Amino acid sequence: MKSKSKLSLSVFFFIFFLYLAAVTSDLESDRQALVVLRNSVRGRPLLWNMSASPCTWHGVHCDAGRVTELRLPGSGLFGSLPVGGIGNLTELQTLSLRFNSLSGPIPSDFSNLVLLRYLYLQGNSFSGEIPSFLFTLPNIIRINLGENNLSGPIPDNVNSATRLATLYLERNQLTGPIPEITITLQQFNVSSNQLNGSIPDSLSGFPQAAFQGNSLCGKPLNPCDATAESPNSPPGPSPGKKDSDKLSAGAIAGIVIACVVVLLVLLFILFCLCRKRKKEENVPSRNIEAPVVAPTSAAAIPRETAGNVPPAKAESGAVNKDLTFFVKSFGEFDLDGLLKASAEVLGKGTVGSSYKASFDHGLVVAVKRLRDVVVPEKDFRERLQVLGSMSHANLVTLIAYYFSRDEKLLVFEYMSRGSLSALLHGNKGSGRTQLNWETRAGIALGAARAISYLHSRDSTTSHGNIKSSNILLSDSYEAKVSDYGLAPIISSTSAPNRIDGYRAPEVTDARKISQKADVYSFGVLILELLTGKSPTHQQLNEEGVDLPRWVQSITDQQSPSDVFDPELTRYQSEGNENMIRLLKIGMSCTAQYPDSRPSMAEVTRLIEEVSHSSGSPNPVSD
Ligand SMILES: *[C@@H]1O[C@H](CO)[C@@H](O)[C@H](O)[C@H]1NC(C)=O
Ligand SMILES: *[C@@H]1O[C@H](CO)[C@@H](O)[C@H](O)[C@H]1NC(C)=O
Ligand SMILES: *[C@@H]1O[C@H](CO)[C@@H](O)[C@H](O)[C@H]1NC(C)=O
Ligand SMILES: *[C@@H]1O[C@H](CO)[C@@H](O)[C@H](O)[C@H]1NC(C)=O
Ligand SMILES: *[C@@H]1O[C@H](CO)[C@@H](O)[C@H](O)[C@H]1NC(C)=O
Repeated sequence: MKSKSKLSLSVFFFIFFLYLAAVTSDLESDRQALVVLRNSVRGRPLLWNMSASPCTWHGVHCDAGRVTELRLPGSGLFGSLPVGGIGNLTELQTLSLRFNSLSGPIPSDFSNLVLLRYLYLQGNSFSGEIPSFLFTLPNIIRINLGENNLSGPIPDNVNSATRLATLYLERNQLTGPIPEITITLQQFNVSSNQLNGSIPDSLSGFPQAAFQGNSLCGKPLNPCDATAESPNSPPGPSPGKKDSDKLSAGAIAGIVIACVVVLLVLLFILFCLCRKRKKEENVPSRNIEAPVVAPTSAAAIPRETAGNVPPAKAESGAVNKDLTFFVKSFGEFDLDGLLKASAEVLGKGTVGSSYKASFDHGLVVAVKRLRDVVVPEKDFRERLQVLGSMSHANLVTLIAYYFSRDEKLLVFEYMSRGSLSALLHGNKGSGRTQLNWETRAGIALGAARAISYLHSRDSTTSHGNIKSSNILLSDSYEAKVSDYGLAPIISSTSAPNRIDGYRAPEVTDARKISQKADVYSFGVLILELLTGKSPTHQQLNEEGVDLPRWVQSITDQQSPSDVFDPELTRYQSEGNENMIRLLKIGMSCTAQYPDSRPSMAEVTRLIEEVSHSSGSPNPVSD
């Protein structure tokens, strides 16, 4: 017995050491591969510290002890990529060498990169053919080879890349036809090549600009028959009668099917419209036992129309108890009055639409009409009691709520300056100049205090939906956090893109948000505040990089001040040091692992230090 357990223990240790050896030797081979790369490409030297781990090298990112990302965009590299370099980074998932001056072929050993997802080689001088093995890499999602000197045909095995979403091949020297593509691409561009032939039907939905600068024909460009008559195209045998017969048979079938489909869709839309109408009409009569006075549609609120609509007449006799009040200091009103007030759509958020409701006597409130409430009435009311009991200078006050089977309304204090998101990303000029450093630092601090307050209530309370459109601003540009604590009562079906760009990597179910996930979202918010870039910004997404990683990649290779919103740095340079301190706080909040993130209380303390030392006005005190 004893010897047996001894044996198994030693076997265990043996395997353990083997594993250790494997891990270290793999990182060692990654290091060697990077050194091969460094020794082959010329230009601005890669200042990598050979005595440190490759994971600390500029442009290199590791995960679980292996190199998973290599990003050296715009680094002035030239020469050709060696075999035995990048191709030996077998755990690589992202490769970005865009906008360098690299030339020569795409190395043949890139076929080893079976985990590669994102390949960005645009803006170089790579030549030779596009290797067909790129499309057999099982995980590949984005391929960008635009603006190179690639020639030959587009490989005909594009369809092997079943996960491929982006294929950019514009501005090369590619020839021949575009192969039939059956996978669903989201982004596609082959403009400015020497391609000819007809555009496959599956690609006809892309804009003309994606095909221009070739000798292509067919939708979305000119029909092929027209080009066949043009003098440029080869004479060739004209399409035979048999062909056109076949085509017309197919066309007839297509037209019949299309007609049936259109008819069905129309019927469906009609059905939906009728139902919706019926539902809207039902709202008042079901909930309010009062004679229906006005034939107009129920209320100003449910009508998603803008301001100048005459206030809809609602039913009289609505009972006050329908609205449950938490605060009365904003003035007295009842559901009836609320429905009579003139409404203006403020926005369609992810939990529902918001309206501004103005009463005749001057009171203005914001009304949120919740969508996709999934919990029963009892749980809903309990939740709202908790939210209604919260009170903090940087939280938007919840004044009242209304619950019925068909309608769930929350009444909040109205914030005249709108949301931070609108101010940061809206029309230039409109209030954006107000967002100087002091204001932004103040907003960061106010939001941090509010979230800190939520977290201090008990360890399970979190905001769950922190993003710039939920940070509203008071007249004096103080942050007022809204939409707090609603995640647990809203359907998670609307979750996946709900907090796109703000969601912590570990969060898979948006209804189960932890405080550490809030810290992550708050970190993204800080980065957004400082860079002026929206976390869902197209340009960031195209590269598959989120805002935190974008900031990281820029601060790695350039001065941190390169990431700041130009609007922010234009007028002030002396506050720069504090901006960098705040940037670092934001970056620490967006740490990959929840345990590495600071607590919200800690974050608040750090931001307080920053804003005290920059002498920014500190209007809100606890
Ligand atoms: C790259 O991998 C190949 C095959 O595994 C190996 O023979 C070669 O030595 C490696 N090169 C480097 C620089 O590690
Ligand atoms: C290189 O890394 C080693 C070990 O991490 C460190 O001691 C040394 O200071 C670094 N050298 C430079 C120039 O950064
Ligand atoms: C592009 O490749 C062709 C050969 O295929 C070569 O003659 C030409 O010089 C290359 N152009 C550039 C800009 O590298
Ligand atoms: C495309 O161009 C090649 C020559 O570059 C020619 O041989 C071929 O017939 C052309 N194909 C079509 C469909 O025009
Ligand atoms: C395709 O690339 C060209 C540049 O060659 C650009 O002008 C065009 O806007 C792009 N079109 C699309 C749809 O991406």
